Amino acid sequence: MSRISIHGEWSSRMAFIMAATGSAVGLGNIWKFPYMTGQYGGGAFVITYLLCIAILCLPVMMAEVMLGKRGRSSPINTMRHLAQENNQSKLWRLLGWSGVIAGFLILSYYSVIAGWALAYIPSLASGTFTAVNTMSPTEITGFVDSVFKSLVENPVQLTAWHTGFIFITMLMVAGGVKGGLERAVTFMMPALFILLLVLVGYAISTPNFMQGFNFMFNINFNDLLYPNCTEAVCKFSGEGLLAAMGQAFFSLSLGMGAIMVYGAYLPKDASVSKVTTAVVVADTSVAILAGLIIFPIVFSNGLEPNAGVGLVFKTLPIAFGQMPFGTLFGTLFFVLLVLAALSSSISLIEPAVAWLVETGKFTRASASVVSGIIVWLIGLITVFSFNIWSDVKPLAGLNLFELINYLTSNIMLPLIGLLIAVFVGWLMQKSTIAEELNLSANSIGYHIWYFLLRYVTPLGVGIVFLNAIGVFS
Ligand code: TRP
Repeated sequence: MSRISIHGEWSSRMAFIMAATGSAVGLGNIWKFPYMTGQYGGGAFVITYLLCIAILCLPVMMAEVMLGKRGRSSPINTMRHLAQENNQSKLWRLLGWSGVIAGFLILSYYSVIAGWALAYIPSLASGTFTAVNTMSPTEITGFVDSVFKSLVENPVQLTAWHTGFIFITMLMVAGGVKGGLERAVTFMMPALFILLLVLVGYAISTPNFMQGFNFMFNINFNDLLYPNCTEAVCKFSGEGLLAAMGQAFFSLSLGMGAIMVYGAYLPKDASVSKVTTAVVVADTSVAILAGLIIFPIVFSNGLEPNAGVGLVFKTLPIAFGQMPFGTLFGTLFFVLLVLAALSSSISLIEPAVAWLVETGKFTRASASVVSGIIVWLIGLITVFSFNIWSDVKPLAGLNLFELINYLTSNIMLPLIGLLIAVFVGWLMQKSTIAEELNLSANSIGYHIWYFLLRYVTPLGVGIVFLNAIGVFS
């Protein structure tokens, strides 16, 4: 039995790899990974993240692509078809629904942060940051801090940039699978990668490159498990492990149907394991490169690695201010960062749009507009949590943006990932799985993947969850 997607198909396997990489590579790699690494003490966070990618996420990613390829529709309808096909409860479609909700919530703040990147384009283009060349180190830190602060503390400006970003996203999603999505990603991913390499060259030339390098790769689990410890007896916390796992799911765009819906547009004969591995390698390299660029700048300028969400916006402009052709490279970099964010944001909204189109009541264009408006409205919560609502901290001392961020990355994505692992690993027919993966059910690769998905992913995610709520301490 095979279905065809009403939304069209990728023109080639490479087009899928590009689009899925476009979804995976984004603010998660360049903005979120470095600041979280900085907050959770460096190397131990990085190694936990890498282990989660390899052991927990890669199997889930293959499962998600495979589900999409089988279901050929939006995550909601894919889960509905597949639950039926395997005689499972209708409730599995809720998984598709939670994905759509998670996507809206993530995009709501993603768009605000992407708006910061948009706002930095004119600042860099006008040479604002070349001023650092005549400043002392303390003046530099103060300067980049104040530029960042004056942006995020201004709700009107933030709303304007957020609106701009959502608007572009809507236009691109309305363009459809081949027109909008595919065209955009094929040229920008390589360009971004090359620019990152140029920046690594700059980072190597800074005086404290090795300190930055060591921060990222010296593994000291005390920093991760006993954060901010100054006393003799330190308090254990499972938060760091949970954050690293959440970041792994987030960075690979797992657990909300984005990769599932992209899998639905995959040509029938494509090898799921090969395309998935290519995406994982590309995504992980970009995150590591971003860290290798940012931490040497942090240490060479006396900044704090745990500066939080502003880290990238306070470090990279210094580099661009100081390096030759910095105005040009800096402008180009933020343009590419916005494009990388766009190729991610379209995947965050695509499951909802695909579903609306499948109901038969919407065109791609009207579905994009409706979803875009909803996300825009939710995004205002994030806009205000950096200024007029910065003191609103309803839970655990987290403001509204931090809560949405925590709820989606640390809870929703891994939980949906776990349920996907259970569905595919325990409830789906083995013959169907092997057929969609284009793997023989007797090959070693298949056995390893199936074992990881059936046992390791559910247990691993479960243990990290229980650990975070303190069950083992
Ligand atoms: N992975 C993207 C990034 O790193 C963000 C993203 C796009 C995403 N689609 C997703 C995150 C789906 C979670 C789920 O920037």
